[in-house]
Amino acid sequence: MVVAIDGPAGAGKSTVARALAERLGFTYLDTGAMYRAVALLATEGASPAEAAGELDIALGDRVLLGERDVTAAIRSPAISEAASRVSTDPEVREALVRKQRALLEAGDWVAEGRDIGTVVCPDAEVKVFLTASPETRARRRADELGTDLASVMADMELRDLRDSQRFHAPLIAAPDAVPVDSTALDLDGVLEQIELLVVEAREVLR
Ligand code: C5P
Repeated sequence: MVVAIDGPAGAGKSTVARALAERLGFTYLDTGAMYRAVALLATEGASPAEAAGELDIALGDRVLLGERDVTAAIRSPAISEAASRVSTDPEVREALVRKQRALLEAGDWVAEGRDIGTVVCPDAEVKVFLTASPETRARRRADELGTDLASVMADMELRDLRDSQRFHAPLIAAPDAVPVDSTALDLDGVLEQIELLVVEAREVLR
């Protein structure tokens, strides 16, 4: 089974997807980490399309590029910005989507990103579009990064705009995705809603 969780930056996708995977005993796939890894290599001079095609990445508690631990490096605001830029490149998307589909082919997954339910895995048994108000999303990111709210808000607006307006696989809810608004919900509240969807999907599969 694949549980697809898409939505804008700061909606709580990573926290929710990781916790949900843990509860269900599924594997967690952070597709944003792949775009971030390509962005890191691009800032070091690599061609984004080649870096994506040859990406030797291990995802888990730590993110490894070959032997190199890039867990912290890919989370910087500069790499967030660079990731949103390289992710507009169709060659980068094609290479990463191919890798993601190969992973999702077998086993049980909670996959998180922007285009899981629309492009990567349109047949996902459960699709969630996770949102929160812009203020809530910016506050969560600012707390996480320890930076000020105003600059986070400005960066986030730019990324949201770029993600939703790009030509290839823009951030958009799949028509059959269930919208979940995390503004007024804590983690358990969000998990409860998605777990209900998983129970329903299992009933359908039986
Ligand atoms: O989710 P995260 O913030 O780590 O993603 C970083 C950037 O990678 C996003 O702003 C987006 O531009 C891009 N991305 C994407 N498609 C995905 C996951 C991430 O375009 N499936």
